[in-house]
Amino acid sequence: MKSSLTLQSHSPEETHGVGREVGARLRGGEIISLIGPLGTGKTCFTQGIAIALGIPDASSPSYVLITQSEGRLRLYHVDAYRLDPIGVVIQETGIEDCFDDSSICVIEWADRIMEWIPSEQLEIRFAHEKNGRRMEFHPHGKRYRSLVKELDSLVSPRN
Ligand SMILES: Nc1ncnc2c1ncn2[C@@H]1O[C@H](COP(=O)(O)OP(=O)(O)O)[C@@H](O)[C@H]1O
Ligand SMILES: [Mg+2]
Repeated sequence: MKSSLTLQSHSPEETHGVGREVGARLRGGEIISLIGPLGTGKTCFTQGIAIALGIPDASSPSYVLITQSEGRLRLYHVDAYRLDPIGVVIQETGIEDCFDDSSICVIEWADRIMEWIPSEQLEIRFAHEKNGRRMEFHPHGKRYRSLVKELDSLVSPRN
């Protein structure tokens, strides 16, 4: 059964909008790994999630590793871009505290710290495209498969 989903985004507003659609469906305890080169929309997407959670200003945490904001659910926004050396820093951050049932954890550059992230997660791969960006959703676990299925029926309602 195909469970992944690829979406195209033609503008920042669309990227943000997809984030809002994901955010509106979160219940707490979800882990979302964002992977892809600089400038592909990971922060823009995360801001959409934040808005849907009732958090108006989720600025990028590039200079601090993790930001924590309170909305309908608590949002931990992790950015692993500047983590260096990774192994040492990650042990000092207490990232495992971000994985709790009443919080959402969104991780930019998750591929850099994947071994510290639970394997049940929604992986989203971002890429540049000629007319914007591409987002590939890869659900790992039942919870995330049903989330991606909902997104799929939103964009292709006849399937
Ligand atoms: N589909 C799109 N087409 C064009 N620009 C986009 C698109 N989605 C997002 N952007 C813009 O790309 C820039 C980089 O986005 P950002 O979220 O900071 O990337 P990242 O966090 O992956 O480095 C921002 O100015 C954002 O508004
Ligand atoms: Mg970013």
